[in-house]
Amino acid sequence: MRLQLMTWAEVEAYLTAQNGIIVPIGSTEQHGPIGLIGTDAICPEVIADRAAETLGCIVGPTINVGMAQHHLAFPGSIALRPTTLIAVIKDYVLSLARNGFERFYFLNGHGGNIPTISAAFSEIYAEKSIEGSPSRPHVRCKLANWFTQPQAKALAAEIYGDRDGHHATASEVAVTQFAYPDHIKKAAMDPAPPRPRPFYDADDYRSIHPDGRIGADSWLASPEAGGRLVAASALGVVEDYRQFIAET
Ligand code: NI
Repeated sequence: MRLQLMTWAEVEAYLTAQNGIIVPIGSTEQHGPIGLIGTDAICPEVIADRAAETLGCIVGPTINVGMAQHHLAFPGSIALRPTTLIAVIKDYVLSLARNGFERFYFLNGHGGNIPTISAAFSEIYAEKSIEGSPSRPHVRCKLANWFTQPQAKALAAEIYGDRDGHHATASEVAVTQFAYPDHIKKAAMDPAPPRPRPFYDADDYRSIHPDGRIGADSWLASPEAGGRLVAASALGVVEDYRQFIAET
């Protein structure tokens, strides 16, 4: 169930029985010629909703914008600096913790967010550790990626092999096609895009990868494959969330 579709009284009742929440987190950035700009936020949101149906837990509002400075040379991309994203995550978690949420399961859709999310968790723990205050909420945060759930990883490898690529992957495009079948795009693409090599800022990135993809045959995406990937990843999330909540 979505937090935004509940009343405060329903949330208060939920907190008498459980204290966990799934937080989808993504990015708003170019995803090649046919990938939607919201891809990295759409994928974890859809998978979180699916997992929550089984888990009976709350899904918080998606953090739609992430650390994507290297995509800014493509129109439509939005980036939060790492310090801004850390502040957003911290305030999000501590707001909910104030009234009893304790376990925060971040389901991420963007590899570029990983170091910043980890740093945000350290900031949250540091406040309690340094102050040593027993009155502060006992918060635990976990980072999981939808695309590294073992079931999803295995299925993507089975369907696409190494043609899945590194950015604007066929798998992530497939998940968005499943979620938004009315927004499936078509475009001609270079069948042999440039090989991955190091990049640093947004101008570097665009000069190396002119259409935005990194090693991905995005055109292999299909809504059918997307539906299978959603189901596979949600299975992994259900198991992983249950373990996280059961931790003592
Ligand atoms: Ni992506």
